[in-house]
Amino acid sequence: MREWDASTYDRVSDPQTRWGALVLDRLVLSGAETVLDAGCGSGRVTEQLVARLPRGRVVALDASQAMVAQARERLAALQGQVRFVVADLLELRPALLGTAAPVDAVFSTATFHWVTDHDLLFANVAGVLRPGGQLVVQCGGEGNIANLQTAVRALGVELAGSWEFASVEDTRRRLSAAGFEDAQVWSHDEPTRFPPGEPFLDFLATVCLREHLPTLPPAEHGPFLSAVAAAMAEPVLDYVRLNIVARRSGPR
Ligand SMILES: C[S@@+](CC[C@H](N)C(=O)[O-])C[C@H]1O[C@@H](n2cnc3c(N)ncnc32)[C@H](O)[C@@H]1O
Repeated sequence: MREWDASTYDRVSDPQTRWGALVLDRLVLSGAETVLDAGCGSGRVTEQLVARLPRGRVVALDASQAMVAQARERLAALQGQVRFVVADLLELRPALLGTAAPVDAVFSTATFHWVTDHDLLFANVAGVLRPGGQLVVQCGGEGNIANLQTAVRALGVELAGSWEFASVEDTRRRLSAAGFEDAQVWSHDEPTRFPPGEPFLDFLATVCLREHLPTLPPAEHGPFLSAVAAAMAEPVLDYVRLNIVARRSGPR
C-alpha cells in the first residue's frame, strides 16, 4: 500500500513537521552538501532542509507518487535545488538519485518504521552515502502508539498496520552490520495530544490507520474511527520516537 492521501497528510502533519524541525538540527551542514531526504512525504520538512543548503542540493525521495507530487508543488520555487524521485527505499540504488557522487548525508523523519526490512534498508542507505557521510533519522520505535494498538485490538483488529517499531538494541546491531560507526541510537516518549473529534479522526485515517481502513467497506470507515477514538481514554497518541545519528564508516 504505497499511496497516501498527500493533501490531507500535508494538512494534518503538524506533529511530524514539529519533530522534523528538531531532528534537522542534528545534521552538521556547511550549506553546500547534497542530502537525501529519504521519505520526503509532502515536503514540509524537506522545505526546511533546503533552506539550510543555500549552495547545496536535496534529493527528495518517496515511494508515493501522490506525496512526491505534493512536495513538488510545495517546493516549486526551489526546483533548481531539489531533485524529486519516486522510489522504494528497499530498492534504493545510487543510480536512482541522479547525483554524480554519493550523497553527503541521508536524512529521514517519520518514515523508517513504514519500511519493514531494516537490515536491507540500512544496507541500501549505506550504499548511497559517501564514507564519513551522516545518517540522521527519527522514526517510530519500540512501543510506538501502543495505546492506539490496544484500542484497535479491543475492537477485534489484531494489527492495524505493517510497521517495524524497532528497538534501540536491534537498531545499533543493524547499523553496525550495514557499515555505520559512531552510532548514537536512543528513543524517547513523545505523547501527542490532538483536538478531539474530526481533527483526531482525520489524523488516524490519514496516518496511523491508513492501511487498515481500505480493508473495510467505505461506509464503515467513519464508525470504525469513532469506535477507536471512543476506546481511547483521550485523544492522545503515545508516540515513541527512535533517533539515530551515525556515520558511514570509511575515510572522511
Ligand atoms: C509519515 S510520512 C513522513 C513524511 C515526511 N518525512 C514528514 O516527516 O512529514 C511517511 C512517508 O514515508 C514514505 N515511505 C514509506 N515507505 C517507504 C518506502 N519503502 N520507500 C520510500 N518511501 C516510503 C511514505 O510514502 C510517506 O510519504
